[in-house]
Amino acid sequence: MKTFVNIFLGFFIFESVGAAPIADTVIYDSEFYEIPLGELSHPFVYVENEQSDQLETETGTALPSVAQESYSSAPLTEEPEEEASTPKLIDGSSAQGSGVLGPQTRDGLPTCLLCTCLGTTVYCDDRELDDVPPLPKKTTYFYSRYNRIRRINRNDFANLSNLKRIDLTANFISEIHEDAFRRLPQLQELVLRENRIRQLPELPSTLTFIDVSNNRLGRRGIRNEAFKDLHELQHLYITDNNLDHIPLPLPESLQALHLQNNNIQEMHEDTFCKMKDFNYVRRALEDIRLDGNPINLSKTPYAYMCLPRLPVGNLI
Ligand SMILES: *[C@@H]1O[C@H](CO)[C@@H](O)[C@H](O)[C@H]1NC(C)=O
Ligand SMILES: *[C@@H]1O[C@H](CO)[C@@H](O)[C@H](O)[C@H]1NC(C)=O
Repeated sequence: MKTFVNIFLGFFIFESVGAAPIADTVIYDSEFYEIPLGELSHPFVYVENEQSDQLETETGTALPSVAQESYSSAPLTEEPEEEASTPKLIDGSSAQGSGVLGPQTRDGLPTCLLCTCLGTTVYCDDRELDDVPPLPKKTTYFYSRYNRIRRINRNDFANLSNLKRIDLTANFISEIHEDAFRRLPQLQELVLRENRIRQLPELPSTLTFIDVSNNRLGRRGIRNEAFKDLHELQHLYITDNNLDHIPLPLPESLQALHLQNNNIQEMHEDTFCKMKDFNYVRRALEDIRLDGNPINLSKTPYAYMCLPRLPVGNLI
């Protein structure tokens, strides 16, 4: 009898698992991918990402397990995407490649087959990309980490008027066209960590978050007054570069300035405060990191008078 019950239960469990609507489980990791969930209902997308678990273990980049949300009725392949990237497998569906699956890449593959498009977010992490793929017009968030992109061209992000975040962490980017980010009216977050960037291009004034840590920015890497007109900038991370000065002026909106591990040797009393106006208070800037620089912060005691908190660094 017990055996029978076990078999019966086993069968029952098997049946219910088999019938579970897998397509409904979207496991979403907000720490890594900040897509407002509302966007999941946007139509341009299609996703099939059987590989995400595998990717996670391979790269350690903690990709979310994006489950199979099939918005498309296209007869998409059941194969893992690696195989899908060989042309023979897309013969049947490539005809409408510029529709649901986004524009065609140079290899003739639609971007959303090569990458994963979910809502208006395009995930291209760890796809061995050499270039920024052509993005669907409505792209809002673009992730292309752990690839081998070497340069950002003038038109890579052209006319993407909804684009809010670009994350190109851990590529080989050494060149960025001066105008590459210029016409992005909504760009808020620009993450270019762990590349080989020597010079920052013109930055849109809508940016709130910039991370260009772990690059090769030196004395001339950041133009004069590069951040002056970024009136919404809150977070500026330029750690682990070769800067020899603090980029000035810093916008009032700035809350966090991380400049650890550079080559900053001196600071002026006017860097953060205004020596001519002792009533001035720079309220927002609460988090300044200057550790790992050959600078003795004790030499300029008046430079911090207007700050809510002392910078972190050598106070010896
Ligand atoms: C961007 O849009 C403008 C005006 O709509 C157009 O002239 C231009 O060719 C577009 N650029 C690209 C790269 O699509
Ligand atoms: C740092 O500056 C203070 C004030 O000028 C000075 O007394 C101290 O000796 C300096 N420390 C080092 C390690 O140079």
